[in-house]
Amino acid sequence: MAIDMASKYHSLHLPTHHGDWSLWDRIYDQLTLDDCVGLLVILVVTIAYLSHGYLWDKPDPYHHLWFEKPQARSMVNNLPAQTRNIATKLEERKKEMVIFWGSQSGTAESLAARLSREVNRRFGIESLLADLSDYDAASITDIPVTKIAVFILSTYGEGDPPDNANELWSWVTTQKDVKLNDLRYAAFGLGNSNYNAFNRAIDIVTKSLDGFGARALLPVGKADDAKGSTVEDFLAWQDELFGMLKTTLGYREQNVGYQPTLSAVYNDSVNPADIHRGIPVDPRERKKARGGRLKVYALPLTEGRELFSGSERSCLHLEFDLSQHARLKYKTGDHLAVWPQNPVQEVNRLLHMLGLQSQRSVPVSIAITEPGIELKYPTPTTLDALFGYYMDICGPMSRDLLPSLIQFAPSESSEARLAQLSSDPAAWTEYLSDKHINLGRLLEDLSEDGQSWTSIPLSFLLEYIPPLKPRYFSISSSAVVQPRRVSITALVSHTPINGNIQNQIPGLATTYLARLKAQLAAPGAASDTTSAVQILPPHHLHAHIQRSPFKLPANAAVPLILVASGTGIAPLRAFLAERSRLHRMDRPVGRCLLFYGARSAQNEWLYREEMEEVRRELGQGLFEIETAFSRDPAKDPVRKCYVQDRVRERFGDIATTLLNEGGYLYVCGSARMARGLGKIMDECFAEKMAWSKERYTEWAARMKRERKWQEDVWG
Ligand SMILES: Cc1cc2nc3c(=O)[nH]c(=O)nc-3n(C[C@H](O)[C@H](O)[C@H](O)COP(=O)(O)OP(=O)(O)OC[C@H]3O[C@@H](n4cnc5c(N)ncnc54)[C@H](O)[C@@H]3O)c2cc1C
Ligand SMILES: Cc1cc2nc3c(=O)[nH]c(=O)nc-3n(C[C@H](O)[C@H](O)[C@H](O)COP(=O)(O)O)c2cc1C
Ligand SMILES: *[C@@H]1O[C@H](CO)[C@@H](O)[C@H](O)[C@H]1NC(C)=O
Repeated sequence: MAIDMASKYHSLHLPTHHGDWSLWDRIYDQLTLDDCVGLLVILVVTIAYLSHGYLWDKPDPYHHLWFEKPQARSMVNNLPAQTRNIATKLEERKKEMVIFWGSQSGTAESLAARLSREVNRRFGIESLLADLSDYDAASITDIPVTKIAVFILSTYGEGDPPDNANELWSWVTTQKDVKLNDLRYAAFGLGNSNYNAFNRAIDIVTKSLDGFGARALLPVGKADDAKGSTVEDFLAWQDELFGMLKTTLGYREQNVGYQPTLSAVYNDSVNPADIHRGIPVDPRERKKARGGRLKVYALPLTEGRELFSGSERSCLHLEFDLSQHARLKYKTGDHLAVWPQNPVQEVNRLLHMLGLQSQRSVPVSIAITEPGIELKYPTPTTLDALFGYYMDICGPMSRDLLPSLIQFAPSESSEARLAQLSSDPAAWTEYLSDKHINLGRLLEDLSEDGQSWTSIPLSFLLEYIPPLKPRYFSISSSAVVQPRRVSITALVSHTPINGNIQNQIPGLATTYLARLKAQLAAPGAASDTTSAVQILPPHHLHAHIQRSPFKLPANAAVPLILVASGTGIAPLRAFLAERSRLHRMDRPVGRCLLFYGARSAQNEWLYREEMEEVRRELGQGLFEIETAFSRDPAKDPVRKCYVQDRVRERFGDIATTLLNEGGYLYVCGSARMARGLGKIMDECFAEKMAWSKERYTEWAARMKRERKWQEDVWG
């Protein structure tokens, strides 16, 4: 463990970062580190922290790190460094397979972990899970022909690799004379076809590996998150991989049964003050700063209102007060990362189905038993904290959990049903589309007479259920106008199953936010729906600021083209608030042309009054709004109604602004809209300015590189 920590801490200093996102991360990391240096700061912060009288502000379990003796630290550093040579590591650990993963938000990482467990369970293959940033990319050349390498890699940003794959990326894209004739590999990419550069990262990596002489054992697999089929796409590829292992490489299928890689034991001897009761541990921070909790804050909701409300969806404007946290700062264009809680009904359901209600508050100690595995959860903790705050127990179920569950089935009929569902993707899909299923609900649905599944080990759940992730919301307030208050604009949708509005799958974070807002209106009313153990004061939530490179140009006189759909207006509202403030201060402000698209003008035109107010203030010469409503019954059916179509109509203005006036282009909202916009621009430049495809592509890439074309998109 100590070795692991040292090497993680070390990896902080490795020059693996490049690209804009990570540049931002780096600047802020630097800030955090600098902050840690001054003892005075540490003392003030510690005193401020300890003097907080709340029950929920329990002492920081990493408190001792602040006072760690320098000699103790250097002892840690003097331990032999872990090798960064992957071939050496495979040899040391006696592994036949390495599974490299590159992941930004954890999906590729958890698929890599699943594959590692499955190859072991089905073929007895010992594999090494490898975070790409933990190894020297060049050492891939040392992997002997007897081993198998697997690459699982997602695509981010504008077709970029995840941050932890940056070293591999620069290696494959810059090296020329690499010989990889011994490398046998399989590769799987994660992406979303709503984005322009669909799965570009895995494509570039595999093309380079092939160019270096490596041998692909099977075609590259690709997940498309736009279809919501990431896990099923992965399972289909995994089936192909397993088929190849059997037929081409001669592996024999066996069933080894469940072999835990970690231990989880009830432990009454832990000090109650050490127990993690649900305060989030940021996974990215856990690696970097060891403490991990430094950046997550309890923020009070101070204002909540509905921007619109309909049967299918509603939209909330929420404001949080930052004034209690002097160190917490945001910049216009950043994101608020919200840490949701699982609803208490779901926590209770799962505890009940596992027969663990009576153990819910007993301290649990978790430890790794297999070297190389990383602990995803804080320890010691409790089931209440794990199910309420740390584990994603409400998320969609994936079919690959089912075969492993069979061994723990409480009855023959539940065993048979599991076997049937796990072997029949179509039946499984139909089952899911009929019902709202998560782990607790699955166990409930498959059990007879409410029989509980008492033989499922806790370690199994900790391995198979992914950790709860924060959800990002684009900040809709300006840090210049309101530095101590942050607002977000959240769309709450009520997705009906099979068109039945009574049967919905609530989004975790958005429902949680809606509940907080309801609490604000009627204090004390909603306590039965919040999580089991209160670790937060009323109407507070846990959140951190996620830095984003989505930023206004420093010079306010630069003209802006703003394009948004739906809640994509959020960061632009902040931009406009900032520009009107400057205008009021008699600073020169550039012209803004806003394109806004939504379903209907009556219902879903977000911040309409505010936008009109800004227009009055800046005047039509400085601020123009073009709207497009896709579902307005009143609209002229002939007139097109998507934001891209308005862009086409105003292309002349846009081209002048961007080409002749040094204007910036900002695109926010759905990824699909952003891709559509890119297409329209391409077409317009071709039709109206006779640009060749190459010329447009080169120009668009340069605009993005120079950050004159920025996107804040999701979906
Ligand atoms: C950079 C960025 C900026 C963003 N900015 C904004 C913003 O400004 N405003 C905004 O509203 N959103 C924004 N988002 C999206 C936001 O982060 C969330 O993804 C969104 O609000 C849904 O989160 P949720 O927790 O409510 O839903 P989740 O619980 O994550 O659910 C997502 C979907 O999965 C379905 N689902 C959940 N559980 C199950 C299950 N067990 N079985 C089957 N289906 C299930 C849900 O019905 C839903 O359709 C942004 C995203 C990113 C990446
Ligand atoms: C901000 C953002 C940008 C993305 N950009 C791309 C992209 O350019 N191309 C693509 O194929 N997928 C893109 N995706 C989709 C992700 O690759 C996909 O969601 C994947 O499952 C994430 O895996 P990870 O959690 O392991 O990082 C993007 C997702 C987000 C949130
Ligand atoms: C129980 O907790 C104590 C105190 O934290 C710890 O030293 C011990 O290792 C734990 N026991 C197990 C089996 O994890």
